[in-house]
Amino acid sequence: MAFELVPGLEGVPIAESGVSFVDGQAGKLEYRGFDVETLAENSTFEETSLLLLHGKLPTHSELEAFKREMVGYRKLKYRIIDLIKCLPETGHPMDALQAAAAATGMFYPRRRAMDATTRRQACYRLIAKLPTIVAAFERLRKGDDHISPNPNLSHAGNFFWMLSGKEPDPAHEHILDVALILHADHTMNASTFAGRVVGSTLADPYCVVSSALGALSGPLHGGANEDAILLFRKIGKPENAKNVVGEMIGRKEKLPGFGHRVYKTTDPRAKILKRYAEQLTKASGSPNYEIALEVEKLGIAHYGEKGIWPNVDFYAGIVYSELGIPTECFTPIFAMARVSGWLAHWLEQLENNRIFRPTQQYTGKHGQAYIPLSDRK
Ligand SMILES: CC(C)(COP(=O)(O)OP(=O)(O)OC[C@H]1O[C@@H](n2cnc3c(N)ncnc32)[C@H](O)[C@@H]1OP(=O)(O)O)[C@@H](O)C(=O)NCCC(=O)NCCS
Repeated sequence: MAFELVPGLEGVPIAESGVSFVDGQAGKLEYRGFDVETLAENSTFEETSLLLLHGKLPTHSELEAFKREMVGYRKLKYRIIDLIKCLPETGHPMDALQAAAAATGMFYPRRRAMDATTRRQACYRLIAKLPTIVAAFERLRKGDDHISPNPNLSHAGNFFWMLSGKEPDPAHEHILDVALILHADHTMNASTFAGRVVGSTLADPYCVVSSALGALSGPLHGGANEDAILLFRKIGKPENAKNVVGEMIGRKEKLPGFGHRVYKTTDPRAKILKRYAEQLTKASGSPNYEIALEVEKLGIAHYGEKGIWPNVDFYAGIVYSELGIPTECFTPIFAMARVSGWLAHWLEQLENNRIFRPTQQYTGKHGQAYIPLSDRK
């Protein structure tokens, strides 16, 4: 049976999924049938993770038990800390996160069929440990000691604690929590697909997450939040936006944080992050929000008709930078959130698994004659 080749698999379903839903025309995103805006307003990252993993909102006692279990998993094995110490300090934190996530799996070898309890523990352990790895690498590579997790703080609050050793500002803790909710899942994106492909081989969840991390690290995926803030910093002040963006358009260079395979209007997550970007920059006096508004205006004027609008990464970088998070940690924060979605998809994949084995359209040669090395010119 011959199928048409679809570059980037645009529009090709690769699984049945009940985890999340996107309406790209209406700019709507739901997790398990709940509007992401409602979750951003009312939920927490911990509760949203349980919703994604198990398909329903937890009861009070389920949520409390989950939080207790997660707190117990936050610490890293000392050998993982040693491994992180050995990584080059100039390396990107996404690469450190990928290496440490994969290595963590070596402490929990369970490569074949896993029972429901082992799967659940692996999911919670990975969600709990990713922020500890990110914070540890960030501190160790700057020559500071790694800070142990604080069991009395929320997932978001504890991340600030492990980065700085200070109790987080409650407003900042809330904004990071919302950002984590907004990034927790997004249907069949590249990293989720990568994770499902690896999961379909019955590889362990640490390999699933490390492969998804590799996919997320690219500038066409999670890396765009970093590129967007670098662009705003390069522009420097709103008056310069016209020239810089004009030159980029002239060179047919993509605007970071713009465009999406599915959304043909503004990404609903960008709208929420935009409000926080405005609020935070008003308080700090940073010009980045005003610069972003100019870039947004110019980008929409030029590309809007083509369906290219701001995506989640456009304002995320401003928010993170106002929260005092180092630029290279922006994509790892995306990963700290998306790990819940990756694992929800992994569990779903295993429910009705068949190994992914697509095909190709062969364009190479056949029947080549082997010429001995001494006769080749
Ligand atoms: C997200 C993204 C990878 C989607 O890719 P895609 O669906 O394969 O779309 P393509 O890259 O094929 O782009 C389709 C067209 O839109 C243009 N386009 C897409 N994103 C653009 C952007 N950010 N700026 C300018 N033009 C863009 C492409 O140049 C292409 O134009 P053409 O038809 O004239 O060749 C793409 O929009 C992009 O690279 N955006 C910038 C990186 C980014 O923000 N990524 C985060 C996504 S959440």
